[in-house]
Amino acid sequence: MMHKDLQEILISPEELSSGIGKLGERISADYAGRCLTLVGVLKGSVFFLTDLARRITTDVRLDFMMLSSYAGAQSTGVVRIALDLKESIEDSDVLIVEDIVDSGLTMNYLLPNLKTRRPRSLEICTLLDKPSRRKAQVPIKYAGFTIPDKFVVGYGLDYNGIYRNLPYIGVLKEGVIEGN
Ligand code: IMP
Ligand code: MG
Repeated sequence: MMHKDLQEILISPEELSSGIGKLGERISADYAGRCLTLVGVLKGSVFFLTDLARRITTDVRLDFMMLSSYAGAQSTGVVRIALDLKESIEDSDVLIVEDIVDSGLTMNYLLPNLKTRRPRSLEICTLLDKPSRRKAQVPIKYAGFTIPDKFVVGYGLDYNGIYRNLPYIGVLKEGVIEGN
């Protein structure tokens, strides 16, 4: 059953599960025998992160960051760290877990920031890749699904803070988005 504010379900729970299973297999093979630190970008990545972690067979640690764009500065990519990592990542294998890479500006900020902390390795895993609006080139190692230029919600992704708990990825109706 689809939420009334949606026009379409883009990725069903079953598709999410099998796509995340495939990501887990790749990551498990690539990091076999190593301990991997998953860095979840709050809040959007939480649902993805917890499902992905359970499909990874090597040891993992979890840590989190919260990033926020300066008000009115979304297009400039000026990002503020609202919550930083709890642990040092020096000499660790680190995988950033993100909900969606859109303009790429958030990852373009976070990647060099984490690199200065001297991890052993540093890669990006995103559930969704929306390449059509990219402003900064981002080296994405693992992407679950490539999606068209539509505003999506569910499975962690929000609009004005809601819809995160939908078990699928859906497209909001035009009328729900302010200014439409
Ligand atoms: P970027 O910096 O433009 O790559 O986008 C980063 C953030 O924008 C994501 O982590 C999301 O929080 C948000 N975002 C981008 N596109 C969407 C969308 O379609 N739905 C919900 N959030 C989005
Ligand atoms: Mg986000």
